Amino acid sequence: MLHYRLIAKKLFYILLFAVVSISGLRAQDGKALFQANCASCHNPIKQLTGPALQGVTSRVTDKALLHAWIKNNIAVLGTGNKYFNDLYVSFGKTPMNTFPNLSDAEIDAILNYVETYKAPTAAPADNGGGGTKDQENDNSLLYGVLTLILAVIMFVLLQVNSSLKKLSDDKEGIPAMEPIPFYRNKVYITFVVLILFVVGGYYVVQGAIGLGRTKNYQPEQPIFYSHKVHAGTNQISCLYCHGGAWESKHAGVPSLNICMNCHAAINEYKGEALHREDGTTVDGTAEIQKLYSYTGYDVKSGKYTEPGKSIEWVKIHNLPDHVYFNHSQHIRAGKVQCQTCHGNITEMSEVKQFAELSMGWCINCHRNSKIDFPDSTGAGNKFYSIYEKFHNDLKNGTIDSVTVEKIGGTECQKCHY
Ligand code: HEC
Ligand code: HEC
Ligand code: HEC
Ligand code: HEC
Ligand code: HEC
Ligand code: HEC
Repeated sequence: MLHYRLIAKKLFYILLFAVVSISGLRAQDGKALFQANCASCHNPIKQLTGPALQGVTSRVTDKALLHAWIKNNIAVLGTGNKYFNDLYVSFGKTPMNTFPNLSDAEIDAILNYVETYKAPTAAPADNGGGGTKDQENDNSLLYGVLTLILAVIMFVLLQVNSSLKKLSDDKEGIPAMEPIPFYRNKVYITFVVLILFVVGGYYVVQGAIGLGRTKNYQPEQPIFYSHKVHAGTNQISCLYCHGGAWESKHAGVPSLNICMNCHAAINEYKGEALHREDGTTVDGTAEIQKLYSYTGYDVKSGKYTEPGKSIEWVKIHNLPDHVYFNHSQHIRAGKVQCQTCHGNITEMSEVKQFAELSMGWCINCHRNSKIDFPDSTGAGNKFYSIYEKFHNDLKNGTIDSVTVEKIGGTECQKCHY
């Protein structure tokens, strides 16, 4: 019996070690934390809404101060710190979010990611039209290797254990039993089944949660329509084509007559070379021709000579039916930028799903985003003047801002039908 207890004890420590090391790795996942919390305003090496973050640990050598800033920049500005107040002014007094929920270890992981970040190398003969494939932040290989190593260690320990037992038995003169081959040994079989159960369970659960999630989905569209050319180079406003986003739940995709507002006249593409994600070159003029074939437009006569066909754009973003998401609520009331949720569309030749669209993604943002709460001067969204309690708390200084969570943005029925 002692034998089993010993093994059980060892197994317990091994599993404990595995759990601790895996959760340790999780906590240190600076890239994921950065992308979830900071990437909407920061890039490690490019200035966006906020400064490029690389080198910040040498610009601000006081680590405690830096942590304090990231957790609550408003408080640091309040202390009159010169460096941060100057920075704030030089960024046009753009406020940064506060992150009271980030632990010191998490902030260190983010800073470490930022400082060790290297620019992705662009594909050859490609001036930025793609090629910077976001490397999937995938730890499954790591987990696999870890599991394997642990299994080997366990096997070795078991062997040692049985040899030791044999030794001690020999010493005490207990006659050795007929050795059982390991594949019939119940202990081994139990362990193998256990390991298969744990590993299998992990992947089944992960797979089930991920079902229907399509981060990075980037299908080929019937016409190579480039957001980089239209919304980037030619600065066409998102709302010109996706006007629905301002008024309604759906942003919508424009009908082809909106395209023809311009393309009745623009029948050639003379801009910089276009590339698909796989590096192949695209003939823009031929793509505009495709647009004409859908609309039945004849360039020579300048008339619509054939009946138009509808075009089947491949839908990229797709929330499950049990979720309610409303664009105007976010863009108009919440003043959230399209890019925060859809990434840098103006750099994309082909649209790619940027956010995970998971429940955690929505909730995290609701925890961290402030709403446009009326301040003491009355500026802000008047609708929220119904929340009298928050007004008083703001006045007393008990709180410094109101997040979406506080107005109920994490209640189940707000997002679920
Ligand atoms: C809503 C946009 C926004 C978000 C989100 C955001 N920041 Fe900032 N950050 C800024 C702005 C803007 C500044 C410049 C100072 C200012 O105007 O407040 C800044 C400044 C900084 C600085 C000082 C940089 C320097 O060069 O000294 C650090 C460090 C920083 N942010 C870290 C972070 C981290 C870490 C996160 C994520 C946990 C984050 N920020 C999320 C907008 C943001
Ligand atoms: C000239 C019209 C036009 C403009 C301007 C435009 N778009 Fe689009 N957008 C389209 C068309 C057409 C599609 C469908 C084809 C595709 O996915 O590339 C689309 C698709 C999208 C999608 C993916 C929809 C899906 O299937 O899930 C997103 C997100 C998007 N646009 C965001 C933006 C943002 C953000 C801007 C501004 C920076 C913008 N668009 C500007 C025409 C436009
Ligand atoms: C507000 C004007 C405008 C609208 C609306 C517009 N385009 Fe364009 N389009 C342009 C301009 C400008 C160019 C670039 C011409 C150049 O650089 O020579 C262009 C280029 C293109 C090209 C070649 C480059 C590329 O992206 O592959 C295609 C194809 C195209 N447009 C399709 C569309 C489609 C489809 C729509 C409707 C969803 C549309 N355009 C709506 C102005 C417009
Ligand atoms: C708060 C995050 C968020 C913001 C901000 C946002 N979107 Fe979306 N967008 C989504 C989500 C989530 C979906 C998927 C909706 C669905 O499947 O019901 C989506 C879907 C889309 C689609 C696909 C068609 C549709 O209506 O479902 C387009 C196009 C689009 N967004 C464009 C835009 C544009 C343009 C802006 C800025 C004016 C914008 N979005 C701002 C989260 C956002
Ligand atoms: C980038 C940040 C961000 C993300 C991501 C985001 N939201 Fe929001 N959401 C907001 C803000 C800001 C508001 C507050 C708008 C306002 O002032 O009424 C809001 C409000 C809402 C509300 C109304 C809450 C209330 O109490 O009135 C709903 C519902 C909602 N969001 C659903 C979603 C869903 C579903 C998703 C994910 C698919 C999502 N949001 C993702 C920022 C975000
Ligand atoms: C801010 C919006 C939001 C709120 C609040 C919210 N959910 Fe969700 N929920 C989502 C989104 C988005 C998904 C779809 C995630 C996906 O497709 O992976 C989802 C999915 C789910 C699922 C399906 C399982 C899954 O992960 O796909 C369940 C169950 C669920 N939510 C329960 C709840 C419960 C219970 C609450 C209240 C405690 C809640 N939700 C509050 C946005 C929200």
